[in-house]
Amino acid sequence: MISLPTIVALLALSTAARALNPIDVRGQDFIDTVTKNRFVLVGIDYQPGGQGAYNPTNSQDPLRNGTVCLRDAALMQSLGINTIRTYNVDPSLNHDDCASVFNEAGIYMIVDVNAPLAGESIDRSNPGSSYTLDYLTRIFGVVEAFKNYPNTLGFFAANEVINDVPTAKNNPPYMRAVQRDLKDYIAAHSSRPIPVGYSAADVREVLQDTWAYLQCAINGSSSDTSRADFFGLNSYSWCSGANYQTASYGALVSMFGNSTIPVFFSEYGCNKPEPRTFDEVLALYGPQMTVLSGGLVYEYSQEPSNYGLVDLYDNGTVQLRIDYDNLQAQYNKLNVTLLETSNATATALSPPACSSGLITSSSFSTNFTIPQPPAGAAALISSGISNPNNGKIVPVTNTAVPMAVYASNGGLISGLALKPVNGSNTPNGANTGGSVSVSSGPSGTATAAASATSKGAASDPLMHSSSTNSIAAALAAILTFWML
Ligand SMILES: *[C@@H]1O[C@H](CO)[C@@H](O)[C@H](O)[C@H]1NC(C)=O
Ligand SMILES: *[C@@H]1O[C@H](CO)[C@@H](O)[C@H](O)[C@H]1NC(C)=O
Ligand SMILES: *[C@@H]1O[C@H](CO)[C@@H](O)[C@H](O)[C@H]1NC(C)=O
Ligand SMILES: *[C@@H]1O[C@H](CO)[C@@H](O)[C@H](O)[C@H]1NC(C)=O
Ligand SMILES: *[C@@H]1O[C@H](CO)[C@@H](O)[C@H](O)[C@H]1NC(C)=O
Ligand SMILES: *[C@@H]1O[C@H](CO)[C@@H](O)[C@H](O)[C@H]1NC(C)=O
Ligand SMILES: *[C@@H]1O[C@H](CO)[C@@H](O)[C@H](O)[C@H]1NC(C)=O
Ligand SMILES: *[C@@H]1O[C@H](CO)[C@@H](O)[C@H](O)[C@H]1NC(C)=O
Repeated sequence: MISLPTIVALLALSTAARALNPIDVRGQDFIDTVTKNRFVLVGIDYQPGGQGAYNPTNSQDPLRNGTVCLRDAALMQSLGINTIRTYNVDPSLNHDDCASVFNEAGIYMIVDVNAPLAGESIDRSNPGSSYTLDYLTRIFGVVEAFKNYPNTLGFFAANEVINDVPTAKNNPPYMRAVQRDLKDYIAAHSSRPIPVGYSAADVREVLQDTWAYLQCAINGSSSDTSRADFFGLNSYSWCSGANYQTASYGALVSMFGNSTIPVFFSEYGCNKPEPRTFDEVLALYGPQMTVLSGGLVYEYSQEPSNYGLVDLYDNGTVQLRIDYDNLQAQYNKLNVTLLETSNATATALSPPACSSGLITSSSFSTNFTIPQPPAGAAALISSGISNPNNGKIVPVTNTAVPMAVYASNGGLISGLALKPVNGSNTPNGANTGGSVSVSSGPSGTATAAASATSKGAASDPLMHSSSTNSIAAALAAILTFWML
């Protein structure tokens, strides 16, 4: 007989907020600081509503509405992803509901600190004039807003500041300056290290130089905080009919083989053919490309640029596209054991000292004298910005998605719900298929019953179950998706 205090304790356990393990960088790899497993990004870029969803005047950004995030996190869990990238957030808004939903779903966040309005990013045509105290206050505000969420994996200090050969001349020292200021701010005001890096456009003439410039250590010093902690590449080279060689994936492996920081695709997924088939996924996560730390598919929602996995409607309804099914099918083939295997050689790599000899193109900056912060920045970094808006994890009380969601074949998906995960979400449901077990609550409808579902149903929540006789199948009908 179970005592009342035990039941109370079990119930408390079942509702306690989960926290994803912090991720940190060790040499070439991201590492889960608790399990010590390698962490490879199986991710997507998340900007529902496109750039227009960022609207500080109306207090809107893509991590504002917890119900929308719940809907999207449940669909991402089923897809198999473990990381989102968000662009354009407003540091003054409350992101607790969204961050907590993604945390509960086992999904990390990489957050861009910049935004599109004037003064909210480095102006690539005039970096010095845009590197101001107001700008730093904005990006430190983003750190304050996200530093307390355990699932904040990192910050992008900049995106595509170099977007052609000419912009590689004067911008690189400013890119390092912003990284330094962010990292110094995090060191002074965050209880844990949070990696900071860059997201590069695929300008092949200067790609290797950009990485070499950002990953080296000035004076060979381990205390140089202007180094990037990771390097993202926005890659669209694998289009219809491509393969490992023709998409130049082999060239990337050679280029980054000795990287001393994680390299991954911060955007990828050519949209030819349509619908997309995502053949590059097996290459990216296969044994040939383990030097890369995965990638983020561009992008979750269908926007005018035509890269979406789902269609979102103003009434909150979602329609999955065939692209979603195709990507999920590719993810389902991945070898999660391979992804989680850490490599002592790779994690031990340490950076070369910066020198002009690392730079191959005469068009690229060889200036490793990093600009001093603007006047007042040192005090801002040591004292912190005034009235910071600090996010915090809040309990996720509702896991059932209230909006209508339609499968790619038009059928209504009912019973769509978030499944709390212990650890990060994994492709093919390996981590949501039973390890989540807590007690089933008094109502008998606790998420715990996910453990009662068959492995098959749990690992493919969109799968139709035909065995309606068993209790397990009945619970599966309540607790996992169910296609009518
Ligand atoms: C690198 O060394 C030079 C010369 O000693 C010094 O002026 C500079 O401050 C150092 N830079 C860093 C980031 O340590
Ligand atoms: C990687 O490092 C090894 C050992 O230092 C060196 O032999 C090799 O040429 C390097 N490869 C590249 C692509 O730089
Ligand atoms: C939401 O809007 C879409 C597109 O207009 C429509 O097809 C769908 O029926 C609407 N759903 C609901 C629940 O109103
Ligand atoms: C969140 O989004 C839902 C669905 O679109 C909408 O009904 C609701 O009003 C939104 N909530 C807020 C606070 O904006
Ligand atoms: C998955 O990866 C592990 C680690 O590299 C390997 O031992 C195993 O054979 C792989 N499994 C399959 C099915 O390829
Ligand atoms: C370990 O990492 C190093 C550096 O990326 C790489 O050269 C080597 O092939 C990796 N070893 C295995 C077994 O994957
Ligand atoms: C290098 O950049 C610094 C500022 O970051 C600047 O003061 C200096 O003039 C630059 N050096 C050259 C040779 O351009
Ligand atoms: C969650 O996973 C960790 C390993 O990462 C394990 O030590 C712990 O017991 C698990 N907790 C539950 C409630 O399953």
